[in-house]
Amino acid sequence: MNILLIGSGGREHALAWKIAQSPQLDRLYICLGNGGTRGVAETVDLNLDDHSSVISFCQLMAIDLVVVGPEAPLVAGLADDLQKANISVFGPSKAAAQLEGSKNFTKALCDRMAVPTAAYGHFTNATDARAYATEQGAPIVVKADGLAAGKGVTVALTLEEAHAAIDDCFDGAFGDAGAEVVVEEFLSGEEASMFFLCDGKTALPFGTAQDHKQVGDGDTGPNTGGMGAYSPAPVVDDTLQKEVLDTIITPSLDGMAAAGMPFRGVLFAGLMIDQSGPKLIEYNVRFGDPECQVLMMRLQSDLVPLLQACADGDVSKMQADWSPQFALTVVMAADGYPAGYEKGSQINGLNGLNDNQTQVFHAGTKELNGTIRASGGRVLAVTAQGDSASQAQKRAYAAIDKIDWPQGFCRKDIGWRAVQRET
Ligand code: AMP
Ligand code: GLY
Repeated sequence: MNILLIGSGGREHALAWKIAQSPQLDRLYICLGNGGTRGVAETVDLNLDDHSSVISFCQLMAIDLVVVGPEAPLVAGLADDLQKANISVFGPSKAAAQLEGSKNFTKALCDRMAVPTAAYGHFTNATDARAYATEQGAPIVVKADGLAAGKGVTVALTLEEAHAAIDDCFDGAFGDAGAEVVVEEFLSGEEASMFFLCDGKTALPFGTAQDHKQVGDGDTGPNTGGMGAYSPAPVVDDTLQKEVLDTIITPSLDGMAAAGMPFRGVLFAGLMIDQSGPKLIEYNVRFGDPECQVLMMRLQSDLVPLLQACADGDVSKMQADWSPQFALTVVMAADGYPAGYEKGSQINGLNGLNDNQTQVFHAGTKELNGTIRASGGRVLAVTAQGDSASQAQKRAYAAIDKIDWPQGFCRKDIGWRAVQRET
């Protein structure tokens, strides 16, 4: 099989690393990849906005499956155009990608299908949104409706903050993404992420993880794309997984199919868990980054037939086997991230770190004359396995200690919640 993988982050390096291990694979191409994917895939530079050029490439190279990593090409309808050209694609249609592309779309689906989630209001002007927030009281959560690079959500502890966040959205802080706003009930509990491979009808549970969104130790400072993650999420046991499947995922897939937009691809559910049971915070229509890195580390099954079953098969006939070990990834980011940071600094000490317990996945890196240079905010995802969270954590930080990159930093406490549970 020939596969084209779309994306260039740590998530895509992990997917490429896993796909490259498949006995079914002939050639793997990646657009655009990074300094780490060069070892496992052939780099191709395609204009992803020009779907016809992606189709021409697939036809020329006899691509059997396109795997889309990030959400933006999905929301832009890349999967639809590939499908029209009879090219199999792992990733949802533009219509189904609204599960991530529009908060209000997902909230309306939850209403129709009685999926447990936070109570909410949907607004197209600041006056009504402010009035609703005032009526509900703080704490309350304000969300720009559209894609806002993970920055469109404000958990407001006071009414002043909520009003300011509402005004920001309608004043254009998030461009078109903020032209509509969802104001919703604040949920408390423990957060976890669950992943499901979906073929339009059925969902195959595909692992759990917990991430660390904030930049600083002890979950402080501004939100980021994710500074680290671990899998499995100890808070999710078999009973809870079944409850999520029965009350959240299956009704959502049924609702999407009934609306003529069956969901194919990976459904990433962000959940809040408390004594009253799991509630949906949000859906993403792709793997998490860096959650994907820990999932790929633990996945023992061949990934390729699983992705193919989502694209044009039946996942109910598939099984995913996982290592019983714990996997943990620590993101190394460029100084200044998530605000301004410099590109181009050299990273040394990467040779010899990978073994059967440790993998350094690259994110924002480029290879330049045989050296690895930082080229983004999140730069490396140093990933390790162990019999416990503490062992995986020790191994990941031991690898980080060998990396020589003075212009980079990482959180020192990734996995603290899981480690605390163990001690
Ligand atoms: P989202 O982009 O929707 O995942 O939101 C980002 C983060 O904001 C989530 O991971 C939660 O930590 C927090 N959040 C979102 N919605 C709520 C809510 N209704 N209650 C409490 N926290 C929330
Ligand atoms: N790490 C969170 C995300 O990928 O959305």
